[in-house]
Amino acid sequence: MKKVSRTVLLNPGPVTLSDRVRKALTLGDWCHREPEFADLTRDINSRLVRVYREMAGKFDAVMLTGSGTCAVEAMLASFAPHTSATLVIANGVYGERMARMLEVHERKHYIIQLPWGDAIDLERVRRELQLQQDITHIAVVHHETTTGRLNDLSASTSFVSSTKSACCWIVSAVSVLKRSMPTN
Ligand SMILES: Cc1ncc(COP(=O)(O)O)c(C=O)c1O
Repeated sequence: MKKVSRTVLLNPGPVTLSDRVRKALTLGDWCHREPEFADLTRDINSRLVRVYREMAGKFDAVMLTGSGTCAVEAMLASFAPHTSATLVIANGVYGERMARMLEVHERKHYIIQLPWGDAIDLERVRRELQLQQDITHIAVVHHETTTGRLNDLSASTSFVSSTKSACCWIVSAVSVLKRSMPTN
């Protein structure tokens, strides 16, 4: 195989493929309705779920063929409730986009709009949870790639548990999968 020169992508988000992955992509076409494709998918999903030790045996991983935006929208469309509300904590473009997706999918939501790059304001989260009693879910981007802000989920989830129990977190881990992150 002719060696292709590598472009290192420096913009946040898209990754540079390794030679091993590039090579795998040239190995031929597989029919997605055949058993070997199903086996491969099952194998990848079972290994993906083990990225977080705590998830194995309790959760399933689902592979989606699409962009990060597609994955986030699929997650929100699947998990944001229809009969209660989701609180979006937005401190960058991708958090704001989550709110827009909820709007398009007609899911009730509130947004805590923070200046881009700021840390999550836990006092505001507490006030919003007290004010809006129909909030059952909180949506947040773990790593706001647009600003480089890594949101402290550990502190946020502990804080919310001490404020209001039974809130479900919907987390976008695009660009940060496998960094230390609580999975409860
Ligand atoms: C946190 C986050 N969310 C969403 C996206 C959107 O991904 P895509 O450009 O593949 O749609 C990115 C892209 O880098 C991202 O970093």
